[in-house]
Amino acid sequence: MTDPPSRPGPSTRAIRAASRLPSVAQRPTSVPIYQTATFSSADADELAAVLTGEQPGYAYSRIDNPTVTALGDAVAELHDAEAGIALATGMAAIHAAFLSLLRAGDRLLVGQVGYGTTRTQAVSAFGRLGVDVGYVDTTDVAAVEAALAAAPTRVLHVETIANPTCVLADLPVLAGAAHRHGALLTVDNTFASPVVCRPLAHGADLVIESATKYLSGHSDVMAGAVVGSAERIAAVRSAQIDTGATLGPFAAFLVLRGIATLAVRMERQARTAAALAAWLERRDGVSRVIYPGLASHPQRDVAERILDSGGAMLSVDLAGGREAGRAFFDALTIPERTASLGSVHTMVVHPPTSSHRALDAAALAAAGIGEGLLRVSVGLEDEADLVADFDAALAAARATGVPAAAPAPAPAHTLA
Ligand SMILES: Cc1ncc(COP(=O)(O)O)c(C=O)c1O
Repeated sequence: MTDPPSRPGPSTRAIRAASRLPSVAQRPTSVPIYQTATFSSADADELAAVLTGEQPGYAYSRIDNPTVTALGDAVAELHDAEAGIALATGMAAIHAAFLSLLRAGDRLLVGQVGYGTTRTQAVSAFGRLGVDVGYVDTTDVAAVEAALAAAPTRVLHVETIANPTCVLADLPVLAGAAHRHGALLTVDNTFASPVVCRPLAHGADLVIESATKYLSGHSDVMAGAVVGSAERIAAVRSAQIDTGATLGPFAAFLVLRGIATLAVRMERQARTAAALAAWLERRDGVSRVIYPGLASHPQRDVAERILDSGGAMLSVDLAGGREAGRAFFDALTIPERTASLGSVHTMVVHPPTSSHRALDAAALAAAGIGEGLLRVSVGLEDEADLVADFDAALAAARATGVPAAAPAPAPAHTLA
């Protein structure tokens, strides 16, 4: 037996030295990145109390992490919500929200127009496990009432401004209908952001944001968030802990950094979007512009009641159909050709040849997507540069020589 060493060995000393926390008396002006998986407790009692939630604190970053908690709290504050939680992505946020509310045998009604992956998740992740998934045209109140009356429904899920056609959800009306029938209303507010709409104030029970979009704003990070009452968010947190859809602290830091400029970005992006939409509406070769801030939006009254501005998403349908849409898309030089949105970069997607390529003409029409429809997420570039670029792209679209098609198919719901 050798005597215990008088001082720890080099490895022990190195590990301790590298983990010694700096003492900081002054408050950092940014939320620090707590890049750690684990937090050490003083003793067994404290660890047990933290792990069981009897005592506030941190133990393991899949459960929670201070930087990630700061982001959940910030999104809650923007929505005037009691509580909020940040998760790995927008889809993780939707999944955790649904998982917190649904069990086998429950019915989930999803808005007919909306983000495709949400529909896929509803069927492939929840339908497969015994949730009865249905779709409803949320712009037709009578249809919503009938669908809710047809069978007990646990959740009605809608998007404030629907992807990709900018159809609006009349949140107070839908919340009223859902609650009258014993259902809860979950709202994906990604296209609006909390600057443009705060659905909890209009009766929603849970609100989801893909923070990958406007909240972070620079298309450099993936994240999601859910806000609502403390009780409902506690249930979402349990779902997140079980599934491991945890956000990393660096990603949370990037979203917090983006949130600091959210209001000014949205104000400028919405102003440019309004100008671009009004300009596009007067151009040859354009059959329809759908922008919630335009007087011509079919649900202008809904926009006035629930939105603080028209936002920065618009859809433009070209009279020349698919070929014109593709030519316009390929001719752009400033926007990024990508399916995401909510960035400082203007981003354009032509759903019929990309995100919705799998849909045939009838399915596209049913989803309200004309063959010449382009979805535009207006960024922070100068308005005059965007107008000039869109002008050149419209000329390229007209040069396809495709005879002007009849106006884009008006979906059965609102856009007629
Ligand atoms: C309306 C909407 N909700 C949710 C998502 C999913 O977000 P994420 O890509 O962060 O998972 C998207 C993504 O495009 C979206 O457009």
